[in-house]
Amino acid sequence: MYTNVWYVAAFAKDLTNEPVKFRAMGADLVLFRDSDGVAQCISNVCPHRGASLAQGCLYKDGTLACPFHGYRFNGQGECTVIPSRRDHEAKVVAPGVKIDAYAVQEKYGLIWVCLGDEPDAAEPLFDMPEWDNNEFRAAMHEEIWEADYHTAKFTNLDLVHLPVVHGISFKSQENPIQPPKHVISLTEGGFTSVHRSNTTPSAGAWSEMREKDTFVESTLRFFMPGFTLSGKLEIGGMGSGLFNVFYEFSTPIDENRTMMRYFFFRNYRPEPEFDAEHVRRNLQNVHQDKRIAEAQRPIGALTGPRPDGIYTYDEDRVTLAYWTLLERMRDKGWQLDRKSLGDPEKSVRIIPSPTRKADPEGWVFAAMARVAPGASCEVSVRDISYVDIPAVEPTRPKDYALSEPLVPRDPLTNATLEWEGDARKRVEQAPEFVQPMIIENAEKAAKERGINFVTVKLLEELQEKRAS
Ligand code: FES
Ligand SMILES: [Fe+2]
Repeated sequence: MYTNVWYVAAFAKDLTNEPVKFRAMGADLVLFRDSDGVAQCISNVCPHRGASLAQGCLYKDGTLACPFHGYRFNGQGECTVIPSRRDHEAKVVAPGVKIDAYAVQEKYGLIWVCLGDEPDAAEPLFDMPEWDNNEFRAAMHEEIWEADYHTAKFTNLDLVHLPVVHGISFKSQENPIQPPKHVISLTEGGFTSVHRSNTTPSAGAWSEMREKDTFVESTLRFFMPGFTLSGKLEIGGMGSGLFNVFYEFSTPIDENRTMMRYFFFRNYRPEPEFDAEHVRRNLQNVHQDKRIAEAQRPIGALTGPRPDGIYTYDEDRVTLAYWTLLERMRDKGWQLDRKSLGDPEKSVRIIPSPTRKADPEGWVFAAMARVAPGASCEVSVRDISYVDIPAVEPTRPKDYALSEPLVPRDPLTNATLEWEGDARKRVEQAPEFVQPMIIENAEKAAKERGINFVTVKLLEELQEKRAS
């Protein structure tokens, strides 16, 4: 896990006039708004006896009072009042009384916190043009994944998984599972990968958005702030101007769990009633990824490519671009030292802060240790070797789509991406009194399997049909 990253701590709408606690990298933190309404973030662990500041209350002078003995802290981490000795300066009564405070920005409807001691050196926030563009409508979603944040990210930062997990095959390719040519541009704070393909639109509303076999351009971007993955798909085909754009923000709760937040933008079907369907359709992909990530082993984040791992050139370039960026973070001395981390439930984890850097002495709790700058890692991306596949004669028949199912079916529900279409047909063909039962059963089966085949759209259509 890495310090000096702007992480997403909350949706701005969720931070009102009460403190909000959250956990990141195993450290407990609290957000609150000061008297000017400006968002602040400090450690949630009171340095006096370790009470949770989030249980305390906010004062009109912009301080947050501890629920136990009432010590009051401002957004800069200073203790302004010790109520039982309020006629003395807090620093005189209790010299060690201060708390780690972190840099905060409120932007794009999100509360961003730079978890580290060098916010000015951290990669600055990226542009999100859709946020300020009235033609785009945004829907938000958040959920916790029982997976570390690199594993969670890799279920999406991967081209081959598109046909295998989501059924979005690369139809322009002779082998529709082989990623098309893609160019990766690596910058200081992230990378962009662009590819074009006449991918199969999956069933449902998106399938009606473009002509069959139209080429679409997909842009995948990764930004260090928020460990954000953004995907932009011209859903109506190239030149149509109709885009589905998602942003996926990942904040490590600890080594094993990740808070995943999403913005789903669209500039088509602007009616608010379409939000539910738009979210549902996006979440269908999200939950297909979640199922994979949560079952992957080992539990707990890797710190780089596996020394003896399997990497193939075109398939893994995106993954390795990600590790390249993280190697740079390590070289700056910003990676937490995993070996020295205590159990977050039994110890107090403190993320190094600018307040601590400015005044390193006299803290009640020690900050987490980091890997020394330049310390060697297990294996560097530069040392990964590949088999030179173009030089090897193919020995298998080109039966890509014939011998293997292109879209794997779920063994229990038999669900595929075509499922919605099939279900709609089944519903239409069934007598009216059986229709709700088919939908209910489908929903139940989907829920049991952890798949998000929520049939909001089907229910709406059914209701409309009945009304007419
Ligand atoms: S525990 Fe917070 S003031 Fe005592
Ligand atoms: Fe995915």
